[in-house]
Amino acid sequence: MKTMTRHCLLLALAVLASILDAEDKPSVSANLALTPPMGWNSWNKFGCNVSEEMIKGMADAMVKSGMKDAGYQYVVIDDCWQVERDKAANIVADPKRFPSGIKALADYVHSLGLKFGIYSDAGSQTCAGRPGGLGHEYQDAIQYAAWGVDYLKYDWCHTSTQDAKAAYANIRSALDAAGRPIVLSICEWGSHQPWLWGAEVGGNLWRTTGDISPHWDRVYTILEQQAGLEGYAGPGHWNDPDMLEVGNGKLSMDENRAHFSMWAMLASPLLAGNDLPNMKPEIKAILTNRDVIALDQDSLGKQASRIYSEGEVEVWSKPLSGGAVAIAVLNAGDNRYSTHPFHLDLAKLGLHGSQQAKDLWTGKDVELTENMPLQIAGHDVFLVRVAQPK
Ligand code: GLA
Repeated sequence: MKTMTRHCLLLALAVLASILDAEDKPSVSANLALTPPMGWNSWNKFGCNVSEEMIKGMADAMVKSGMKDAGYQYVVIDDCWQVERDKAANIVADPKRFPSGIKALADYVHSLGLKFGIYSDAGSQTCAGRPGGLGHEYQDAIQYAAWGVDYLKYDWCHTSTQDAKAAYANIRSALDAAGRPIVLSICEWGSHQPWLWGAEVGGNLWRTTGDISPHWDRVYTILEQQAGLEGYAGPGHWNDPDMLEVGNGKLSMDENRAHFSMWAMLASPLLAGNDLPNMKPEIKAILTNRDVIALDQDSLGKQASRIYSEGEVEVWSKPLSGGAVAIAVLNAGDNRYSTHPFHLDLAKLGLHGSQQAKDLWTGKDVELTENMPLQIAGHDVFLVRVAQPK
């Protein structure tokens, strides 16, 4: 009797231990994107014009330009790499554009010490009308894991009456079941307020708006839509105001600098979207500014808040680790050739008296005085880091 009781007890303990073990086991996707993901994505510049040669060239340029050293990591192919499903319903890459196959391309990207990302869609088709993932989530996830995919952007076209939260939870479960840690980029354009549920379903970033384009008005409109969302961002789960247009279209240098500064203030994912092998040195200098990148990648993971606006000038601040703070003063005024008379009110930022700061674009130390007059050109920014705010 005694032995029986002991056996029962041991069995119960073993069952309990296995339950606890299963519950304690971190999912394969735990600890992904503890800082906002950095990399490059094909869509903004190249649209559907993707191929293995082009992607390899981008990966090479990411290394040669110094972007890899500055922290850029993911090389992501957006829409149009896929053409059909085969008889077994496996997703098939365009054989003309990707003759060596996706696995070989992922291997190449990995051989450079970079990570590889791909795109699909929660609906029946992608936004460009290629086969979507609906009904094939687990099969696709196994395929992606076998190819060595590290990042999946999952779009929201052709989703009919699907429930967004359930659809993204489903693809996250499929990716986890496939056993490879894969960053999940939720791309439903903010339609169902993904900031409210994106982290809960294991999304690492979620688009907050419709698509960006390389025009200041669009960049600025998207920026305005981020104010108020700062409470939802943090290590592992980020608001995504869309990929960078730095170096694209007709954005002026001031606009490129302001766009990059504000995305860094927002702790936004930094996915460059320009032609890396052919970028101008000035564009490279913006994309690789270590001080600005450090704001974005700060381990505290706080997104900036807009503290106050005066006319067309906006003052944003971002708490940083170690008690430091970043301040961005943006002149959103349209006349880019005029300067704007503006006085920065440090008290409104909770700062007392003058502060020692570093101007992150000139690299010089500056003293911020209490009601400091600032001359900022239209569509440009004054960006500083105060290491020891008083
Ligand atoms: C949507 C997304 C874009 C891009 C395209 C591809 O518009 O929001 O970022 O992925 O689809 O077709």
